Amino acid sequence: MIRYRENISLLPFNTFGIDINAAHIFYLKAPEDLKDILEYPGFSDMSDNMTDLLVLGQGSNVLFTHDFRGVIIKNEIRGIRILEENDKFVLVEAGSGEKWQDLVDYAVSRDLAGIENLTLIPGTVGAAPIQNIGAYGVEAADVIESVHAYNLEKKEWITLANKECEFSYRDSIFKRRLKNQVVICSVVFRLSKTPELRLNYGGIKEELGKRNIADPTIQDISGIVAGIRRAKLPDPEILGNAGSFFKNPLLGEAQFQVLLRSFPMIKYFKEGDLYKISAGWLIEQAGWKGYRQGNASCYEKQALILVNYGNAKGEEILALSEKIQKSVFDKFGIALEREVNLIS
Ligand code: FAD
Ligand code: EPU
Repeated sequence: MIRYRENISLLPFNTFGIDINAAHIFYLKAPEDLKDILEYPGFSDMSDNMTDLLVLGQGSNVLFTHDFRGVIIKNEIRGIRILEENDKFVLVEAGSGEKWQDLVDYAVSRDLAGIENLTLIPGTVGAAPIQNIGAYGVEAADVIESVHAYNLEKKEWITLANKECEFSYRDSIFKRRLKNQVVICSVVFRLSKTPELRLNYGGIKEELGKRNIADPTIQDISGIVAGIRRAKLPDPEILGNAGSFFKNPLLGEAQFQVLLRSFPMIKYFKEGDLYKISAGWLIEQAGWKGYRQGNASCYEKQALILVNYGNAKGEEILALSEKIQKSVFDKFGIALEREVNLIS
């Protein structure tokens, strides 16, 4: 039996803490229930086209600016199981509505390596491929074997192998050609029994030194990443937010050299042929860090994060973000691209 509700508040379902209503919400417990949802009496009147339909995981990467008039499919597909195993790798399949952190705990507690650096990223397993979640030198693309989804437009089940997902920094085919077209129902991960630890990024080595750990385990790495994140990032339970609001811009050699001449202190990381500029630094230099306008604010400890001090409307957060974009463009000539998905 499908669970369906009308006119429901989405306040508990978005980490920005925006209080808006959804006209229709279906709770998806199993992939096979999708058929019943799509055939639910009156469904086509609730959702005229794909833009009126939104799959929602934990709502930790969305910003709602209005009541949502269409259909929300709230993903609650659970289950984690081993599909295949040898002495080197394990293929683990997870239901898309599993909490990402529960999958990390599952892997770390079984000595399965690959996602320990992605500890404490909020959200669901099914959203991980959408923006190719990443942190501390690892991306979901490094471990995703395949993604299983239902294509709402073509009305068919599809399985995309890693390469077909067209992953890149905070991007994938699901944000482009397949945007709003698929419901991801499960993801298969290739986890390793012989870990290759990634220790170079963002304070991991320093912390290992402080703790006198010479030969770290994946449990050590997961614990260290959790500690760094707890110290740096606002807890959405206390201060509404959706993590980084913008992507870090990637510049080519010529544009980077021009920028470096004007701003020799600029913070960046070299990534292949490109330069990843720290958007947090750009925003801080433009004077926004800690700036508050009503209930919307640029977080005082990390300028790339916008926060809700309580009752901000989505439009207020959006307005602040647009002011920041304009001012960073005026100062540096760089157009910041939103990372958060705007639902307007
Ligand atoms: P939602 O916000 O519910 O959805 C995001 C998008 O994906 C929407 O467009 C939605 O329609 C679509 N979607 C979700 N599930 C499905 C599905 N099953 N099928 C089809 N479409 C779907 N991200 C990082 O990459 N790295 C970080 O370090 C990081 N840190 C964060 C820290 C904080 C404090 C917060 C609040 C967020 C952070 N994020 C980070 C962003 C967020 O955690 C990720 O983007 C996460 O993957 C979103 O998961 P979700 O289930 O909440 O997705
Ligand atoms: N910085 C500043 N001022 C600030 C913030 C940052 O100068 O207010 C500079 C500092 O030099 C700092 C550097 O920017 O060393 C990088 O900052 P940080 O390590 O906090 O990482 P980030 O680039 O701001 C990215 C991801 C995060 C991810 C962390 C750790 C993006 C858009 N964001 O943030 O992901 O957790 O690295 O890997 O790539 C998210 O996507 O929601 C998210 C939180």
